[in-house]
Amino acid sequence: MKAPKRIQPLIDDGLVDEVLQSLMSGKEAQVYLVRCGQEIRCAKVYKDVAARSFKKAAQYREGRAIRNSRRHRAMEKRSKFGREQLEAVWQTTEVDALNVLANAGVRVPKAYGLFDGVLLLELITGADGEVAPRLNDITMSAEQARKDHATVMHYVLRMLCVGLVHGDLSEFNVLQDENGPVIIDLPQAVNAAGNNNAKSILQHDVSSMTQYYAKFAPELADTHFAEEIWELHENGDLRPDAKLTGNFEFSTEEVDVHTVQRLIDLAYEDEQDRLKRESQRAN
Ligand SMILES: Nc1ncnc2c1ncn2[C@@H]1O[C@H](COP(=O)(O)OP(=O)(O)O)[C@@H](O)[C@H]1O
Ligand SMILES: [Mg+2]
Repeated sequence: MKAPKRIQPLIDDGLVDEVLQSLMSGKEAQVYLVRCGQEIRCAKVYKDVAARSFKKAAQYREGRAIRNSRRHRAMEKRSKFGREQLEAVWQTTEVDALNVLANAGVRVPKAYGLFDGVLLLELITGADGEVAPRLNDITMSAEQARKDHATVMHYVLRMLCVGLVHGDLSEFNVLQDENGPVIIDLPQAVNAAGNNNAKSILQHDVSSMTQYYAKFAPELADTHFAEEIWELHENGDLRPDAKLTGNFEFSTEEVDVHTVQRLIDLAYEDEQDRLKRESQRAN
């Protein structure tokens, strides 16, 4: 096909030889199949920042280190320069996250680099050599669902081990290849240490994946991986190969009414003593 305008610079630079077809037009990016020498790869072309919701973006951006204050102010002002900077942060977040996660034992497409706002990625293929389907496009046995759910929960754990929460995990952003789930689509990845919403974002990610796999293995709906993982995080016990159970003891301690009543009585007696002493002094 004729090369889209945004990919032309990569062709001019010899990074891409040919654009084969448009693969998918998502809400935030257009993905193409491209040929680079002998290899078929994906080219993810980010849509303009104006096409995305700023409100949601602000929640995710919270705490993201943007030290240069001119840059920060410009981003806040939504000036043209600001929009460009926001766009750049968005794009580099994805390529950085892909590189970090590949090293952290999370199955993600290999990133070949970000060039002029176009991310070159390993094409994930299924058993048949065709482009791998998204979870949303497949069904599976209960056994497979249990296995893959456990894998994804471990990926969530490993992401948090390197300080990241995906932030948009769902059956639309996980592909299925021969070996199981492959996580994609990370421009909104959240820095857990610097974001006050990190826990609820992680809970949302875990819940959407659990609901998906529970369609095939209903008992998964009763698991509590988000709480378990977050507790490990808070206690400083996160390890990439930590054993997860999905069980979580929510605090069920009953209020001990008797002890509370006794404390109130004691405080009352103290106060009566104090008043008595005071009146004795006054007399
Ligand atoms: N590495 C890849 N291999 C195969 N297909 C991919 C790959 N990356 C993206 N896709 C396809 O392109 C779609 C859009 O990519 P995604 O990164 O999710 O961007 P968006 O923000 O537009 O959702 C995905 O749902 C998937 O079908
Ligand atoms: Mg997506």
